Amino acid sequence: MPKTDRSKRTAALAAFAAIVLLGSAALALDRTPVERGRTLAAQLCGHCHSLDVTGAGTHPGAPSFRHLAARIELDGFQERLREGLIAGHRDMPQTKLTRDEARAITAFIRSIQTP
Ligand code: HEC
Repeated sequence: MPKTDRSKRTAALAAFAAIVLLGSAALALDRTPVERGRTLAAQLCGHCHSLDVTGAGTHPGAPSFRHLAARIELDGFQERLREGLIAGHRDMPQTKLTRDEARAITAFIRSIQTP
């Protein structure tokens, strides 16, 4: 029965393709710049800085991101991020960020500012 086998395989492939498509649509939907920025910041910055609206960071002296606007100019921060940050940033890993990543992190930091 080669014919049935083939159509079974086709059906399985179609189902697989549908799952992949649905999955990536769902991913695209919840990936706003702010959310991408939160993920990136959690990976790159979160082991020193607090990313939350409460609580302190884990690295002594690392300012909580929610208070950054009081310390630095967030306009232009994207460019400084891309240039590798930041005068006087001890222990800071030098990471190359794409323009989109720098924009996302900046958007995330803006989104959590509290006075
Ligand atoms: C290994 C720990 C560590 C990591 C990782 C880290 N930082 Fe920092 N960061 C610090 C410390 C410590 C300070 C305080 C530096 C000081 O005042 O000398 C700081 C300060 C800052 C400041 C304030 C600088 C200023 O001019 O006042 C900004 C903005 C900043 N970090 C952004 C980031 C971002 C964005 C990331 C991730 C891409 C990051 N940091 C990752 C430790 C870290």
